[in-house]
Amino acid sequence: VDWFFLVAARTVQFAATIQLFGGFAFACLIASPAFAARNSDAGPVASPRLARRLAALAWASLVLALLSGAAWLAAVAATMSGQPLAAALAQGVWEIVLTRTQFGTDWLLRLGFAGLIAVCLLLGPGRARRRGASAHAAASWSGLLLAAALLAALAWAGHGAATPGAPGDLHLVADMLHLLGAGFWLGMLLPLALLLVEARRRGDAVWARIAGAATRRFSLLAIAGVLMLLAGGIVNTWFLAGSVPALVGTEYGRLLLAKIGLFLATLVIAAVNLLRLTPRLAEPAARAGGGALWRAALWLRRNALAEASLGLAVLAIVGALGILPPGAHSEPGWPLPFRVDVATLSPGARLLLAVLGVLSGVAAVALVASAAAGSYRRAGLLAAVLLLCIGAGWLPLRPAIERAYPTSFYAPAVPYAAPSIVNGAVLYANNCALCHGANGEGDGPAAAALPVRPANLTEAHLFAHSPGDLFWWVSRGRDNGVMPGFAAVMTPNQRWDVINFIRARAAGVLARGIGPQIAPAAVSAALPDFAFERNGIQGTLSQMLKTGPVLLVLFAPGAPMARLAVLSEAQPRLAADGLQVIAVAAVRPSVDPPVVVQVAAEIVPTLALFRAPNDGGETDLLLDRNGDIRAHWTAAGETAGLPDAATLVADARRAAAIPVAAPSHAGHAQ
Ligand code: HEC
Repeated sequence: VDWFFLVAARTVQFAATIQLFGGFAFACLIASPAFAARNSDAGPVASPRLARRLAALAWASLVLALLSGAAWLAAVAATMSGQPLAAALAQGVWEIVLTRTQFGTDWLLRLGFAGLIAVCLLLGPGRARRRGASAHAAASWSGLLLAAALLAALAWAGHGAATPGAPGDLHLVADMLHLLGAGFWLGMLLPLALLLVEARRRGDAVWARIAGAATRRFSLLAIAGVLMLLAGGIVNTWFLAGSVPALVGTEYGRLLLAKIGLFLATLVIAAVNLLRLTPRLAEPAARAGGGALWRAALWLRRNALAEASLGLAVLAIVGALGILPPGAHSEPGWPLPFRVDVATLSPGARLLLAVLGVLSGVAAVALVASAAAGSYRRAGLLAAVLLLCIGAGWLPLRPAIERAYPTSFYAPAVPYAAPSIVNGAVLYANNCALCHGANGEGDGPAAAALPVRPANLTEAHLFAHSPGDLFWWVSRGRDNGVMPGFAAVMTPNQRWDVINFIRARAAGVLARGIGPQIAPAAVSAALPDFAFERNGIQGTLSQMLKTGPVLLVLFAPGAPMARLAVLSEAQPRLAADGLQVIAVAAVRPSVDPPVVVQVAAEIVPTLALFRAPNDGGETDLLLDRNGDIRAHWTAAGETAGLPDAATLVADARRAAAIPVAAPSHAGHAQ
């Protein structure tokens, strides 16, 4: 019940504030110019009835805003204290919310705005005749500014205020733009409908012209409002949902999609008003005040009310959205049996798809506009263009369509780090080696008897599957039933451990193919995180990578210690060029040159995955800031030859220039 109460309070608050702003905007930007245009060539036109109704609407909005504001405060107090509504009120929790939280500060500020708006309403429209037009105008314009502040301040109660730093400011500004856009459009619908009712009641040529002028002005402002809504909405969606999986995979994202759908439906009605009905009001026959005009006006009024109802539904969703965790912060469950992996497409195919996408978008908008304006033949033509674009897009898109599972976009619940891989190696030996083989090459003792050959888990192909795909298979087994699922024998975290292990092993095999030249890799082989100690100070690889690329030297006692001495000597110079060096020994050497760090014994086998058996005792790996291996040298073997200091300095600059991958929006590792 409390949840419903909070959503209802927020919905009414949004609706009432938008209506209050819309009322003032209508008075200043539509009604007064529309009436003034009439007044210049004839006597003044006044309608006390309309003025009374508009004032009543404004007062009702203000009262509703105050009541719902109080309800919202009570609901927040109840949620914060974890007590039922009545108890939270009785114990004065609301006082703490008011004085100690940002919500409270914002609430008080808005209460102040509401009080000033009441003063403007007292001095405003109803008393116009007694005080003179200029006092009336001043009150209306002040009211408009205050109502804008009241509406924009709602952004502080939203998710925007919770985004830290400069992006947070952008998010906040986008939120405000979004709210004001809603005010310009949705907030002016009811006042416009009231004006149209009054015009029809009067039914003369003067009112026909006023109705026409008001509707035209409304159209312009509503278009501006929709553009503001869109601009703010796109930024918000990026911040809060961030990715397609987050949009379709979380409750938050699906509600957001429902909101966008309702918004588009509202836009279709608006398009009919704008493109078909508004021009009819301007036709000469209509200007004379004929029946066609009043029919169009009647439809306009009905549509405005329909738009306002849809708008209210959108606001109800907004009311609920504000209290759900945003999509970017919860694990998305993928609802479709397929997904599109754009990364597998060639740049040419991607460009073609982008062009077709833009074309389809333009065609779709033009199609709706033509249908709304009543030119059905053009709409048919555009529908054909749209279908053609979709058909043409299917061909390049098809290879990127892959099977997907509910967990496909899960981020690993256990970080890709040595301790997890150590666990995973044991679990692998006990559960998987029978079929996939001790080394993962698909040649386990049971493999020969199986109807399907077990996959070679050391091939680069493993990285074509997302960690979430692997999680699904290890949990549920493969479709053909040959490989069983392990949900019953391993906890979810253990399944992630096995996955981290097979990914690390495949990365190690992949790394052996990476040459001594820094090159962009099609598939990246990432080194798992691990902890080490140097001169008594603890550190981790991931902390180190935050400051720049790292040269990781893996060596066995057989490696010439002279080489480590050279690296130690070059270390300050390399560090000045942004390259940090750490060396890890398979067995702890008797003397420790400064580049050598100590690691726990159980981490050594994990790092050994990244050494070829015949590396001559030393493998050097250059890691970019993502932890991906970018260059690989060995002391012996096919590509023997270790880098000297000059090569390393040049490579360090190149590696530092590799951009850090944006953190995945789909989920967080923790
Ligand atoms: C009973 C034998 C068997 C066991 C036990 C087994 N697998 Fe498999 N696994 C297979 C077979 C057979 C396939 C190929 C099936 C297919 O293509 O549908 C396969 C496929 C896979 C794949 C898909 C690879 C790809 O690229 O398509 C992964 C990943 C995998 N196994 C991981 C594991 C892990 C991890 C374990 C241990 C937790 C495990 N398997 C245990 C038989 C087994």
